Amino acid sequence: MREEQTINIRGGRILDETTDAQGRLADVHISVGVIADVVQAGSKLPKADFDLDATDCIISPGFVDLHVHLREPGREESETIETGSRAAALGGFTAVVAMPNTEPSQDSRIVVEFVRSQGVRAGLCEVVPSGCITVGRTGQVLAPYAELRDAGVMLFTDDGNGVQDPLLMRRALEYARDLDITLAQHCEVSSLTAGAVMHEGSCCSHLGLPGWPALAEELMVHRDIELVRLTGSRIHFLHLSTERSVEMVRQAKAEGLPVTAEATPHHFTLTDEALRSFDPVFKVNPPLRTPADIAALKEGLRDGTIDAIATDHAPHASHLKEQPLDQAPPGMLGLETALALSLSELDMEIQAVLAALSWNPARIAGIGDRHGRPIAVGEPANIAIFDPTSEWVVDREVVASKSKNTPYHGRRVRGQVRHTIFAGQLVVRDGVAQR
Ligand code: DOR
Repeated sequence: MREEQTINIRGGRILDETTDAQGRLADVHISVGVIADVVQAGSKLPKADFDLDATDCIISPGFVDLHVHLREPGREESETIETGSRAAALGGFTAVVAMPNTEPSQDSRIVVEFVRSQGVRAGLCEVVPSGCITVGRTGQVLAPYAELRDAGVMLFTDDGNGVQDPLLMRRALEYARDLDITLAQHCEVSSLTAGAVMHEGSCCSHLGLPGWPALAEELMVHRDIELVRLTGSRIHFLHLSTERSVEMVRQAKAEGLPVTAEATPHHFTLTDEALRSFDPVFKVNPPLRTPADIAALKEGLRDGTIDAIATDHAPHASHLKEQPLDQAPPGMLGLETALALSLSELDMEIQAVLAALSWNPARIAGIGDRHGRPIAVGEPANIAIFDPTSEWVVDREVVASKSKNTPYHGRRVRGQVRHTIFAGQLVVRDGVAQR
């Protein structure tokens, strides 16, 4: 058992779902895992083990990432649950949903319990295992949802693969509805993307590389919206990347269908032009797209069509990633840069960015009882404290992740996490992980 800590946070501005967009200056006392007191700025607080300086900072609920690859079990040369959790904490995340494309995959109670327990052991954030939609993510046979739900799994996905068979997806949605779980789809019609390394468009034609057409995503978004209409089940769309996908989700929401969606920072900050370098660090699935797609994703985030910013943090060890484009695995790091890229590149109020980084994804993940909560007395102390104006330069040599595949090396960004508190424990202090 860890010793309980007491923590005071002074000089910061609280911004959460219940404040107005400006937030309010207040000091906070944390004890025994919960917010024990919120007082007028400068008032007396009880003595504490740690006194955190939050001058110029925002005190917000910790962030929740619906989409991370922690690679354990099976690919520990790229990341472990401990190193990925450390990257998460440094990025201000207090919970992450671990994708199921581990080896073995997360399609049984024993594997999800292992993932969860490794997260508890690391103690840096809550690691929330997702479960597979199909056994082994092969798209053939439904995974044992009831068993996995009894083990606490709320979100199910075959991420890395889309579920190709519409009948199987229909049945999956019917079970999901009856069991009150959420399916999350990686939208990709795989027959249209075989061998692809980048977005299909003028840049890819120029380079003579095989392309991944926007249609491969959009066909599945369309199919699944229609299956949601048929079954009444809810669905979450992972890493949307195209203008038409956003428009379809907007329309589905306007019709009242229970759909939610996420976008990644790399899809709203980078385009397919980056592949002109032939650098595999820019290879990702779905691929980087066009300025028009970026504009649509940003508008989708602004108007609430896209509920969440999720990183698709996908570490790959150098010997795997640094191969020719056609052989390199897709994916890039995301956890340590998500806040800064969002604040730097999205023309949105900070509070709206926090909705997409914290309380919206907390609800989608089914953990809204303990993450994304207001900074108020009695609430669980899962908190991010960040300076929204501080500038820094991304450096792949100092990332906490075990892999180095950030596409942002050398980029100047704005917004820096200063402290992170998870379950009442100070896990990041002055930008340094405490465990
Ligand atoms: O780029 C990606 N990498 N997209 C995925 O869907 C899977 C992920 C991975 O596991 O590396």
